[in-house]
Order: sequence, then C-alpha cells, then structure tokens
Amino acid sequence: MSSFETRKLSPNFGVEVLGIDLSEVTGDHMFGQIRALFEEHSALLFRNQNVTDEKHQELARLFGPIEDRLADERKPGEAYEVPNVSNVRADGSTTGEMDLHTLNLKSNFLWHSDSTFLPTPALTNILIGRVVTTTGGATELASTRAAWAEMPEALKSRIRGRGIWHRYSHSRRKISPELAKLPMFNKWPDQHWEAIWRNPVNGREALYVASHAFRVDGYEEAEGEALLDELIKFCTQPEYVYSHQWSENDVLIWDQRAVLHRGTEWPTEQPRVLSSICSTATEVDGTNTIRIQ
Ligand code: OGA
Ligand code: MN
Repeated sequence: MSSFETRKLSPNFGVEVLGIDLSEVTGDHMFGQIRALFEEHSALLFRNQNVTDEKHQELARLFGPIEDRLADERKPGEAYEVPNVSNVRADGSTTGEMDLHTLNLKSNFLWHSDSTFLPTPALTNILIGRVVTTTGGATELASTRAAWAEMPEALKSRIRGRGIWHRYSHSRRKISPELAKLPMFNKWPDQHWEAIWRNPVNGREALYVASHAFRVDGYEEAEGEALLDELIKFCTQPEYVYSHQWSENDVLIWDQRAVLHRGTEWPTEQPRVLSSICSTATEVDGTNTIRIQ
C-alpha cells in the first residue's frame, strides 16, 4: 500500500497530491484513492509526473470513456491523437494574434465547463503541461460547489429548479461571429441540462453553468443571459478560485460537474502546449439526474 499526502490548493477546494507516481496508477492500484480525492476536493494537482500520451489515455479511461470530438472528421484508418491546447503550428512558429485558431484559444479565456454542449458532457479534463510559458498562461479553476453553498438565497432562488440550454457556438460568438460559424462549433444540437448537478457520491450540489450556456427556462433570452453572467460572476470571486501557474509535467485534473475553468493570457510569441483529455460523464456520475428530456 503506497502512502500519499495532500496539501490544500486553495481554502475552498482542490488539493495537491504528493507521493503518487501517475505512471504506476491502474484500476487496481491507487485509482480508488484518486477517485475518492476527486469526488471530495473537485481538483487534483500532481507535479513532476512522467505521463506519456498512452498513459494519459489510460488515466482518462479510468474516469470514463475518452471524449473524441473529432471522431466524425477523421478519415478511415486515421488514429485518435491526444488533443493539444496549443499555439504552436506544425512548423514550430506560434499562431498570429487574430487568426481563427488564436480566437478559439481566446474563447478558452471565458469561464466554462468543458463539453456542456455535447449530447453527453465531460466528467473530467486531465491537463498536462508539455510546453509552458515563463509568464502568464495560468489555468484558473473556480468551485461552483463552494460558491453555491455560500450563495445568497435571493440569487439561488432565481435559478434553482430550472433548465439551462448550452450551445458550443455561443461561446465562440462572444469572441468572434466568424469563428462561431465554423462547422466544428455547429455539429451538435442545443443541449438542455438542470442548473444544479448533485454529486451522487456525497450529495454536494454545484451550479452547472458555462460560457456555452445561452438560455434559462422561464426567462426571456436576454434576462437569462444576464442571470447566467451574474451567477458566473458570483462563482468566480477570488475566494472560490485557484489559479494554476504551469510547470512542465504538472498534471491537473478537475471535476467538470463542480468546477469552472479558464485560460489566461500569455505573451503570444511564447509557445504553450497543454495536452488535454476529457473523460465523458456516465450515469454513475449523475448524467441521468441533469438531463432534461
Ligand atoms: C481546456 C482549457 C485552458 C487553458 O483545456 O479545456 O480550457 O488554460 N484550457 O489552456
Ligand atoms: Mn476548457
């Protein structure tokens, strides 16, 4: 039995885990402990890891099926590749300020949970620092579980029990209408989820919102959007936020059901590459309790 330690990442959520070598984790070895920490703390940081693309996929699969947004775009025989969040082109240069790729990276600067626009949303993102910047480029996490627990009832009562609609192109439209028109952001029909995701393991409730959310049941579109902005603003106050400044080989894992995240700016000439695999949520994670038919 290996021993490990945890250290708080922030007062309200998140722990750094010390003493676990992720390259040795399997379903039978240490994953149970990691999963328990994940349910309890919503965000886990492991530093100085040696996780290959293959191991990255193995770890993701322990949480759930690997999300593959490009499945329909791949030609027959073309293999899945671990997605990168990157500003580096194939020739090694960094992408230009205004090109659509950079605008898409900028959409990541809006607070979101990944894949709320997919027919089945994500449970986790496992993000690994591959090439990191000397300044800027932090990934910030905000606990919508901690925020919900402390939200004034006057605000809670405006969203409790309502459904929220999500659409990928909505978050892209906030950055650039041209970006929003790309086919990759318009592949899925609008999704409709309960505003609160209750954790099936510990019963803790979290607000389930994102930059992709565009309408709230029972409100005019503009009124709903204003409410969504107000809710996200409440949840992302400093006391609910952990800001992660990357070092190479950091592994950051968070619970998409209870955490918003965003990237932050960095000098565009600096390369930044994070490899990112989302695991899809399943019924044991509570998908059946948030789905609105
Ligand atoms: C992501 C994401 C933010 C960042 O990988 O889903 O939003 O800091 N990344 O690059
Ligand atoms: Mn993201």
